[in-house]
Amino acid sequence: MVVFTEKKALIAYLSNFKAQKKTIGFIPTMGALHRGHLSLIKKAQKKNDLIVVSIFVNPTQFDKKEDLLKYPKTIQNDLKLLESVSCDVLFNPSVEEIYSNNIVSEKFDFDGLEHEMEGEFRTGHFDGVGTIVKTLIEIIEPNKAYFGQKDFQQLQIVKKMVRKYRLNVKIKGCPIFREEDGLAMSSRNVRLTKAQRTAAPFIYKTLKKAYKKFNTENVHSVIEWVENKFKKHPLLNLEYFTIADEKTLKTIKTKESDKKYRAFIAVFAGEIRLIDNIRLKS
Ligand code: PAF
Repeated sequence: MVVFTEKKALIAYLSNFKAQKKTIGFIPTMGALHRGHLSLIKKAQKKNDLIVVSIFVNPTQFDKKEDLLKYPKTIQNDLKLLESVSCDVLFNPSVEEIYSNNIVSEKFDFDGLEHEMEGEFRTGHFDGVGTIVKTLIEIIEPNKAYFGQKDFQQLQIVKKMVRKYRLNVKIKGCPIFREEDGLAMSSRNVRLTKAQRTAAPFIYKTLKKAYKKFNTENVHSVIEWVENKFKKHPLLNLEYFTIADEKTLKTIKTKESDKKYRAFIAVFAGEIRLIDNIRLKS
């Protein structure tokens, strides 16, 4: 694997491959890699000649300084994991390399997608995500870029950005990777205490029950049921649970038969914020 910290050198390296008409698959990450990331790499390897992974903890997408400072950094382990799946290129720039001295986001209009759910609770988050994803795509110019569906709203927003800005890349959404007990894999999971880690699978268990209830009950009663479940939980605090249209991400009040819906959840275990979602049958 070749590691680059400077965009100029990376661009020069990739231009050789592009000249040979080789295709590039790109997986942007913030490091603290886990099997979910590796599954994205493996998927990308099936469809592309060269795999580029970026590791960059993007300061502009964190609404809380504390969360940014405590974001896990495990670069030695990340390098081992990337080697183990034969990743070709790692781009691991500094904050200065990406933002120079101006650590601010571009302001985006994602047609309202950015105001729902995560956007409501994490001010400016999607401007930060849009800024870094657009910057990385412009540097790397991949044919395809891969994103996990755990951050489903992020995935929809990136797809919207690619359409709006006519970026020449295909965005691929990949299924959520879970631990054996159902907890969605996340770099933040390593920050959970033992008790919080034991409690955390409750999130997906509740989502699965909500999935079943959605078949027979109305939207309001499913939401109320989930909220009550969390009210009684000693370790997990519900920030939001909502059922939304997959396309518009707007919360729904009643079901319509031709629409695709998903249930979305954000939960705090202490100060660690966990999100998850599940596709519903309409
Ligand atoms: O999903 C993530 O890890 C980040 O939001 C991303 C896409 C790498 C941008 O920093």
